[in-house]
Amino acid sequence: MSNDSKSMRVNKAIFPVAGLGTRFLPATKAQPKEMLPVVDKPLIQYAVEEAYAAGVREMIFVTGRHKRPIEDHFDMTFELEVALEQAGKQELLEVVRSVKPDDMECIYVRQAQALGLGHAVLCAQRLIGRDPFAVLLADDLMVGEKPILKQMVEQFDEWRASILAVQEVPAEHTRRYGIVAGTAVNDKMMDVTRIVEKPAPEVAPSRLGVAGRYILTPGVLDEIRNQPRGVGGEIQLTDGIAGLLRREKVFAYTYEGKRYDCGSKEGFLQANVELALAHPQLGPGFRDYLQGLKL
Ligand code: G1P
Repeated sequence: MSNDSKSMRVNKAIFPVAGLGTRFLPATKAQPKEMLPVVDKPLIQYAVEEAYAAGVREMIFVTGRHKRPIEDHFDMTFELEVALEQAGKQELLEVVRSVKPDDMECIYVRQAQALGLGHAVLCAQRLIGRDPFAVLLADDLMVGEKPILKQMVEQFDEWRASILAVQEVPAEHTRRYGIVAGTAVNDKMMDVTRIVEKPAPEVAPSRLGVAGRYILTPGVLDEIRNQPRGVGGEIQLTDGIAGLLRREKVFAYTYEGKRYDCGSKEGFLQANVELALAHPQLGPGFRDYLQGLKL
């Protein structure tokens, strides 16, 4: 990283949201998968709130066709706010207004062609400039006592290098993740020497899989640009990171918390059940209901 970016904090986050969401058809036929609700909030809002809690104020959405509901969600809903105000529904008004705090900026960039996650990130290059930035994949709903991205920002502040959130995954699942290998520097951090996108279990360098949270230095963008197409014919973020670690340190951070793979129906249902159980108002009644099911 340049000396300039050494003094910088993580103020920008990229949310790649142009994907088609075919795994959730027909639910996603006419609405973005990122707008599917877990309990009472759309998936994308969880990711944006996590970034905000980590100190990020510039939210960059890389969108595509049919993603207007995301823009509308983070915009002012004038008629709704007036109606709630007139009806004296102050609490609901607060809920609606808190979706976009005043000091949060939302910026939208279009990804005209779905050429891969690396390509999506590259679409935001001009907005990133020479600043470090976060990438959050809304499919991965991350829950931690301390928000996962906040944990990572703290590591970034200490190590001043790119940080990837990782977790141990079952050997038979290595094909679903970017897999990293390297040297442990402490019980949570690893100095990454290799990263491979979706390897078969026989050739996977470890069982540490990358979850959908990254803090990256801007050099990764030039690396993505210089990589040939990777797994699935796509321009992969993982390949850009592999290029970056030949020039800079990259660390893998074993986060404290839980990840729900809301890109899969099972993970999405698990998130709904567990977050409903943890919900301050719904939780107790929902627990009684589940116990009454006598499964
Ligand atoms: C993407 C990344 C992969 C990462 C995963 C985390 O894959 O390419 O490296 O491990 O997200 O969810 P996708 O799930 O989009 O196929």
